[in-house]
Amino acid sequence: MFPIPVQRDFSLRHLNTFGIDAKAAVYLPVDDVDTLLAVKNDKELSMLPRLVLGGGSNLLLTQDFAGLVLHMRGAGMRIVNEDEDFVYVTAAAGENWHRFVQWSLDLGLGGLENLSLIPGSVGAAPIQNIGAYGVEVKDRFHSLTAFDFIDGKTFTLGNAACRFAYRDSIFKQELRDRAVVLDVTFALPKQWQANMNYADVMQELSPRQITVPSPRDIAGAVIAIRTRKLPDPAQIGNAGSFFKNPIVPAQQRESLLAQHPQLVSYAQPDGGYKLAAGWLIDQCGWKGRSLGAAGVYEKQALVLVNKGGASGREIAALAQAIQADVQAKFGVKLEPEPVFI
Ligand code: EPU
Repeated sequence: MFPIPVQRDFSLRHLNTFGIDAKAAVYLPVDDVDTLLAVKNDKELSMLPRLVLGGGSNLLLTQDFAGLVLHMRGAGMRIVNEDEDFVYVTAAAGENWHRFVQWSLDLGLGGLENLSLIPGSVGAAPIQNIGAYGVEVKDRFHSLTAFDFIDGKTFTLGNAACRFAYRDSIFKQELRDRAVVLDVTFALPKQWQANMNYADVMQELSPRQITVPSPRDIAGAVIAIRTRKLPDPAQIGNAGSFFKNPIVPAQQRESLLAQHPQLVSYAQPDGGYKLAAGWLIDQCGWKGRSLGAAGVYEKQALVLVNKGGASGREIAALAQAIQADVQAKFGVKLEPEPVFI
């Protein structure tokens, strides 16, 4: 095996979108599967706890990481196949998600436009089944290849096997700490149809007098909404929505509605209701407030921000204070979306 070019005590500040200055005991950029195999076969490195890093956009570093950070950097995007119904495109895990979406749109392929401007990498997208404006990765996902740290082999998983759910998949469950995504294949429909179910997207398009939108038009609308509502991590450290929208039984939603007629909720296929966590947090008066250098974004209460030099612990303390207030006022438990280290 070749010498593995690890770096020690490596600052992760520029590798997490919160911009938190924590260190990795050992850091290794990964450009191909051979590097992963070398890690697996290395006596010292294989024993260390592992953190696989993509764009670092779903991560809260509350302390230094006393293990090995594998930074996925593999690049490449290509059309791999097509049949009557779909064009299949594959991108390497290290590709930037937004760049990949724009590449597919430049080729005239629709399907991913609603997912424009989501920070992060292609490899991370299926792990938490990213979603926005009525579309989730699972709706376009075909398959992926991943490296298995237990047997050192590469394997392929199809859509059903990934067990996608709201911001969840098998990679956050059974395959956590075991599989490393190498590349992802999407099936983009030839009979493309606009998904404008989300009111914000409709509202964005109507003043532009776009009645029959193209994938590019939808992408433009989504980019405009996101730019307005969500902070740019390059300017203000954040990890997008900090909490998942909680899903509650119909009965609980009804009693909440009786007390709070303005409650924002969406019916789920299983009979439950998804509540807008941003609304719950907003109602507790947290929007725009701070605790030390950790703040709640003034335009969207679901987003926690680093106001400058915040530690991960400060962000976590703010998150806890918000959770306690939402629990006390509404009896609802908010679960964080990012992974805590
Ligand atoms: N709301 C408030 N106050 C706030 C924020 C929201 O009252 O401060 C209300 C809004 O008025 C709206 C409702 O809550 O009625 C929902 O807000 P919004 O449409 O902005 O979406 P969200 O539920 O806050 C989710 C995703 C986002 C995704 C958007 C659009 C989650 C956890 N978040 O946010 O995803 O972009 O829908 O589809 O599901 C992410 O996961 O990082 C993310 C940004």
